[in-house]
Amino acid sequence: MPYAHITGWGMTVPRKILTNDDLSKMVETNDAWIREMTGIRERRIAAEGETSATLGADAAFKALSVAGVLPTEVDLIICSTSSPEHIFPATACLIQDAIGASNAGAFDLLAACSGFIYALNMAAQSIRTGSIKTALVIGSETLSRFTNYKDRNTCILFGDGSGAFVLQASEKPGGVMGSVMHSDGSGGDFLSLPAGGSRHPASEVTLHTGMHFIHMDGKEVFRFATRVMAQATLEAVEKSGWKAEELELIVPHQANRRIIEAAARGLKMPMEKFVVNLDRYGNTSTASIPIAVVEAVQTGRLKSGTKAVFVGFGAGLTWGALAVEWSGPIQPERAIRPEWYRPFARLRSFVRRLLRLLEGLFFGREL
Ligand code: UT7
Repeated sequence: MPYAHITGWGMTVPRKILTNDDLSKMVETNDAWIREMTGIRERRIAAEGETSATLGADAAFKALSVAGVLPTEVDLIICSTSSPEHIFPATACLIQDAIGASNAGAFDLLAACSGFIYALNMAAQSIRTGSIKTALVIGSETLSRFTNYKDRNTCILFGDGSGAFVLQASEKPGGVMGSVMHSDGSGGDFLSLPAGGSRHPASEVTLHTGMHFIHMDGKEVFRFATRVMAQATLEAVEKSGWKAEELELIVPHQANRRIIEAAARGLKMPMEKFVVNLDRYGNTSTASIPIAVVEAVQTGRLKSGTKAVFVGFGAGLTWGALAVEWSGPIQPERAIRPEWYRPFARLRSFVRRLLRLLEGLFFGREL
């Protein structure tokens, strides 16, 4: 049975920074309160024209470049997002087109802030069964588009960004070793975006009552998160056949520093074992774990052979964890760089659209 190795990684965040002081001009809050209660100093906000798909495609190209994998070699793209471009088509399909992954299946996965764990697990299991060889997993969010900047309960938390991993099959042991996924829909109301779906389609009422914004019972989410983080981490460790003492690094969902500290207490592990970068990006939901992983690699905290757990929680309610023995690229450097494919991907998409249009015009049918 092949192993599923993480062989490429990339992250992209918007340039625009929204600081706590900026927020204090929008709602009744202040830098000291936000830092003390959450650990967040600033977050990134997507500019006009930046979307979950554009950020995702950018992160994907970076991940492909690290892995040395061409877009045409990808078999499957899973985009985890709670801020898709549309209800459909899937944001994963827009990314597939943007990067020119012409041989890949593509779909979105929605498990909120736990989504990247779920998506990584799905991709890894597809590789483990031999059904595919190469997968691209993307976590991408532009939650600022759904954030009410008059609601101090939520607007202080969220930021935009994207992270992507390439997963590849290899006979060498390592990669994704153990995983757990959990859910409890009875807590769905604690964190939701109520309107825009089939239950509350867009209407004047939904618009005027702010139902297209994120709604959150912060205290309940906090309580739930502190309950499940340590437990899920230990479950993933057990499933991978490791002992808790062997665990070298934990990359938690970046929601609130106090939640991570509670998890550290629950696991009886020092904070030094945890990757924390929420001070600079806020809560980027499903993108927070891959972004933190990329920074952990860049700073040398995650190296070939490191035993790590990625653990997340979020709306649904959902939570999950994944034990990973870090690999790094598994194929030798190649002469063709995946990022060189960028202009070809654009051209390919343009030509396909043009051909479809011409065929419709001349023959009255679509390709
Ligand atoms: O990916 C999952 C996403 N969600 C989360 O992770 C959320 C988890 N929950 C939390 O992080 C916390 O619940 C918050 C940081 C959002 C809020 O902390 P809290 O301890 O639950 O605060 P609270 O809402 O109970 O408010 C405590 C006090 C209140 O004042 P009084 O009544 O004690 O005088 C609030 O009015 O803080 C006040 N307050 C604020 N003050 C300044 C609430 N929000 C703010 C604010 N700025 N933004």
